[in-house]
Amino acid sequence: DNIPKFVDELEKPSVARPTCHRSYPKNSYYELELKQAMHRFHKDFPLTKIWGYDGLIPGPTIEARKDKSTYVKFINRLPSKHFLPVDRTLHTASDSPEVRTVTHLHGANVFWESDGHPESWYTRGFKYTGPKFRRKVHEYTNHQPAATLWYHDHAMALTRLNVYAGLAGYYLLRDHLEDRLNLPKGDYEIPMIIQDRSFNEDGSLFYPSGPQPPFPPVPVNPSITVGHLGNTITVNGKVWPYLNVEPRKYRFRMLNASNRRGYVLRLSNSQQLIQIGTDGGFLSNSNPIDSVELLPAERTDLIIDFTNLQGQTITLMNDDTEFPGEHTSVVMEFRVSLPLKGDDTSSIPEELAPLMDLHTHHAHIKRDLPLTTTNDQYGRLMLMLNDRMYHDPATEKPSLDSIEIWNFINTTPIPHPIHIHLIQGKIIGRRPFDVDKYLNEGVLEMGPLELPRDYETGWKDVFKADVGYVTSVIMHWKDFVGNYIWHCHFLEHEDHDMMRPITVIKDAH
Ligand code: C2O
Ligand code: CU
Repeated sequence: DNIPKFVDELEKPSVARPTCHRSYPKNSYYELELKQAMHRFHKDFPLTKIWGYDGLIPGPTIEARKDKSTYVKFINRLPSKHFLPVDRTLHTASDSPEVRTVTHLHGANVFWESDGHPESWYTRGFKYTGPKFRRKVHEYTNHQPAATLWYHDHAMALTRLNVYAGLAGYYLLRDHLEDRLNLPKGDYEIPMIIQDRSFNEDGSLFYPSGPQPPFPPVPVNPSITVGHLGNTITVNGKVWPYLNVEPRKYRFRMLNASNRRGYVLRLSNSQQLIQIGTDGGFLSNSNPIDSVELLPAERTDLIIDFTNLQGQTITLMNDDTEFPGEHTSVVMEFRVSLPLKGDDTSSIPEELAPLMDLHTHHAHIKRDLPLTTTNDQYGRLMLMLNDRMYHDPATEKPSLDSIEIWNFINTTPIPHPIHIHLIQGKIIGRRPFDVDKYLNEGVLEMGPLELPRDYETGWKDVFKADVGYVTSVIMHWKDFVGNYIWHCHFLEHEDHDMMRPITVIKDAH
């Protein structure tokens, strides 16, 4: 409660260095070790035990180029016991090793065998492997536009704990188009991974072993909860940091990698943010916005112009209304305290990328997909997609090269960030609907279409399914077939069956 804010300087994540390997082209092969390590979250805290890629929070940033393949071997060197409370009642958790990992490249257009499917998990030294494990080295073809991607653990029924422990990092995909935009770069391009965390008195990470009041206790311990909220905000592994900046333009690539918390970000001086990209890459035009909501796994690419603000301190505020809190309403501080090192020759081009849209009249299939609540066999609240549990057979089987519209019918009392693997899509819009009528009579009665919000017009792989709304999304299944998934990116929901298989099939339609 009395943790001093803005005493640690924001650090840029380190950059991964390629490893030489005779089987892979020069500078294309990486080895990242998943390791237990000690990390300093705050100047006044003792060191904290974490699990990180190369022992780091965040993991090293992988820099990739469009259409040039990258190969990554994620080497599990973790202990065989977890240091956070493992729920043994979740699917596959009862009869498999306690510590499993598999790394998903979030937002990637990728072979399913390299996607980091939750059932492709493995243990230290690849001793035990899950039923869908295929490759020790993931191959990323990078056949997609420049984008802010990220990698994180995705092991079946453990994702919430492994990511909370620290297993997440950036994967920045660049292309020639980006090179030509003359955006702020180098020291002036800063990835920001935002995560809420709670700590015990001794500095160790706190994660609850079961539902906390006001939720009723459950007959299982440890037990998953409906979502853990940290009471501090970290950016790049520092609690409420500050950043000294020059009076010039900066590019910030923001990612919400929290388990359950959403953020509505804005600047304390009411200055506009210039949005240039979303999850899947650049917008067609730069887009001045007042604030941006980021639910877990969403990214936004922003320019902030500190020109003429010498001497000022600007706070990055969080206006989220789902979980308001005095301390969590601030994220970090920008201090315009550095002298200008040279003229700011970077620009904010009005036009960023060619506009390529998917048209609804080209859609081959529309799917109505309800989001519902139920109780599991222990009486715990459980959320489901399409009224099914994860292990029920796949119902979403898009054909290769088809365009589909997915309608997320949210009947639950909370919004959910729905992530679809493999694709980047667009939000068509949302229509309010009569939830009771839908649940009781199966009739979908919808109001008028509301267009996407100003900050969610670009390519996305995470879509906010609003309460009481049908959220419609369009996507093109264009390059790969195989086993993928879609799920809620609230990690406690994902681990407790708010996840479904996708089978992309090759058929002659
Ligand atoms: Cu970022 Cu399936 O996850
Ligand atoms: Cu959810």
